[in-house]
Amino acid sequence: PTDKPWGGRFNEPTDAFVEAFTASIGFDKRLYHHDIRGSIAHATMLQRVGVLTKEEADTIIDGLRAIEAEIEAGQFEWSVSLEDIHMNIEARLTARIGNVGKKLHTGRSRNDQVATDIRLYLRDEIDIVAEELARLRSGLIELAAREADTIMPGFTHLQTAQPVTFGHHLLAWQEMITRDHERLLDCRKRVNILPLGAAALAGTTYPIDRHVTAELLGFERPSENSLDAVSDRDFAIEFASFASILLMHMSRMSEELVLWTSAQFNFINLPDRFCTGSSIMPQKKNPDVPELVRGKTGRVYGHLMGLLTLMKSQPLAYNKDNQEDKEPLFDTLDTVKGCLKAFADMVPALEPRRDSMYEAARRGYSTATDLADYLVRKGTPFRDAHEVVGKSVAYGIEQGKDLSEMSLDELRQFSDVIGDDVFDVLTLEGSVNARNHIGGTAPDQVRAAAQRARDALSRL
Ligand code: ARG
Repeated sequence: PTDKPWGGRFNEPTDAFVEAFTASIGFDKRLYHHDIRGSIAHATMLQRVGVLTKEEADTIIDGLRAIEAEIEAGQFEWSVSLEDIHMNIEARLTARIGNVGKKLHTGRSRNDQVATDIRLYLRDEIDIVAEELARLRSGLIELAAREADTIMPGFTHLQTAQPVTFGHHLLAWQEMITRDHERLLDCRKRVNILPLGAAALAGTTYPIDRHVTAELLGFERPSENSLDAVSDRDFAIEFASFASILLMHMSRMSEELVLWTSAQFNFINLPDRFCTGSSIMPQKKNPDVPELVRGKTGRVYGHLMGLLTLMKSQPLAYNKDNQEDKEPLFDTLDTVKGCLKAFADMVPALEPRRDSMYEAARRGYSTATDLADYLVRKGTPFRDAHEVVGKSVAYGIEQGKDLSEMSLDELRQFSDVIGDDVFDVLTLEGSVNARNHIGGTAPDQVRAAAQRARDALSRL
């Protein structure tokens, strides 16, 4: 026998390298609170069904609480030879309260224990992430409402396309984040299922009541199948999928912020507190926060691929492979929380350079489509109108003039249906105001959309 909790059938001590290689305590100690919470619920349930006496359960629960205090005070001695968080805590329990501590593991296995711990932990973290998503959405909505009248160029192919309002652009971001938020809340439903009671893989012979444990831990219900409960990590994959899509969206926002803060665009000023400088170039102020968020997207994608590959082809039920679920999941959580905090703090502080946005929209023939639509209203077929306006733009490029800077005579060279009223449609204000339907960029629509977004957020 060796000194391991499972040492009975072993005839020699574990190889020192194998011990370190197989241990997870280095990273799963962050589950300590949820491991203890799960153990307290398990002991409570065992007492209710008569497997533990009241006195035994109370002693165990007091011991577990004392251990939690030790951990929080930094007084707990972690042992690699005890492999993981579960055996570290159980061994310490018996050291503190004596033999009754050895009864805690009745009717349970580390396989259902660890699955329970991760779900409890992830559920709490999801609630924090959801709060941050709501904070980011609210920041976007309020900034959008404030900038409902601010005109900027809208782009396709990163070339000036048509004028839009800055508020409309911000609400596009808000829509992306809203869908991510919905995906997260949907994922939470499937995280919130109790594996405990599955034991090693087949269930247990004790008269356990899994509904009691589920209720004590706030789970929706016990899992239906013990083999599935201990083995699958699809809920972690689902969270990593949510995180990947979120970071994909945030990388797009980041890319635009990086472009917009450049001198060439000059659409946005990021306050100094969100930027850093250069150790050699004294003039530099770099948008590190959006750049880093863009960069961190890669590691989150990597964790999604890692988790999918980890789970691939695993036979039922639990395999030690699954110990590898934790580091990618934890790093995904840390990364997502960091990126969201940075953005939720930064978005309300964005300072739009309204004049530069307006100037940029004036250049680049952004109202060309409006001129074509004007010709259509005067009876010109759209394809012909397109051709006419194309020629006017070519003329403008040659003369260095925007459409709105041309005289009526100049414009009439290309079509004699053009009249005095053309100048209303060639203004940026006329262009955005004309797109006045649900989902359009008109300032009134942006204000209404911001109000609907606020209402949706407050209904959560
Ligand atoms: N540290 C393990 C993990 O993270 C706990 C479960 C171990 N179970 C076992 N039968 N070895 O997955």
